[in-house]
Amino acid sequence: MMSYNFTDHYDKTFLLKNMMGPNAMRIAEELDASLNICPDMRLLDLGCGCGLSTIYYAENYPVDIIAADLWISPTDNYRRFVERGIDKRVTPIHIDATESLPFAERYFDLLISIDAYHYFGCDEMMLKKLTPHIKSGGKIAVVVPGLKKDFNDDIPDELKPFWQENMNLFSCDWWQTLWQKEAGIKIDCCREMDCCEAAWADWLACPNPYAQNDIKMMAAEGGNYFNLVMIIATAL
Ligand SMILES: C[S@@+](CC[C@H](N)C(=O)[O-])C[C@H]1O[C@@H](n2cnc3c(N)ncnc32)[C@H](O)[C@@H]1O
Repeated sequence: MMSYNFTDHYDKTFLLKNMMGPNAMRIAEELDASLNICPDMRLLDLGCGCGLSTIYYAENYPVDIIAADLWISPTDNYRRFVERGIDKRVTPIHIDATESLPFAERYFDLLISIDAYHYFGCDEMMLKKLTPHIKSGGKIAVVVPGLKKDFNDDIPDELKPFWQENMNLFSCDWWQTLWQKEAGIKIDCCREMDCCEAAWADWLACPNPYAQNDIKMMAAEGGNYFNLVMIIATAL
């Protein structure tokens, strides 16, 4: 397997240009260790952004991937996939996950969603809507920025200048409780990712103005509150 290496010059330049949050390629690599990806599987990368996780999986496995996103155009993603030589096996599409989904039932072996699901999946309805599109025995693997412990409206003083209601940051327990309500899945694991600190550090090294804005917030946070929550479930 090709090993992801942030110090590699080409990859580093490419990553700094295309990261949209905590380093999705690093996250995809750790997630990979908990997924049994096999040749010819069909993957949905939901909220793929600039396609970093799509690229990671397409470069490491002979699988077919639908790379679906709302804000990033399929044309821009297609150019990136051509540049990386994975365009034959990856289909970029525009999607709004809150609208009806253009997929057949039981179509995907694996759904991954990195740093995107908290924008649209913080209620019971989203999982109920997505699950029928996953084959029985297939996996749903989501990683979201979250919290080590829920604040429950008690926002720490040092974070108040940065806090916004729509950040949708919750603990592993919060996500597990939400997903346990879905009868069509069985939760395999829900835990903090080992790469949490490194993935955030990679993001803060980006010239992207959003990353530069996050530097003060992450300094105030000081490693005490934020998390990267990983949830993997099997479709029944
Ligand atoms: C912070 S970016 C992360 C992108 C990418 N997964 C990564 O980690 O680099 C969040 C992504 O969620 C996508 N997103 C937000 N709301 C969405 C929705 N309703 N349907 C599909 N994608 C959505 C955005 O288009 C955006 O690319």
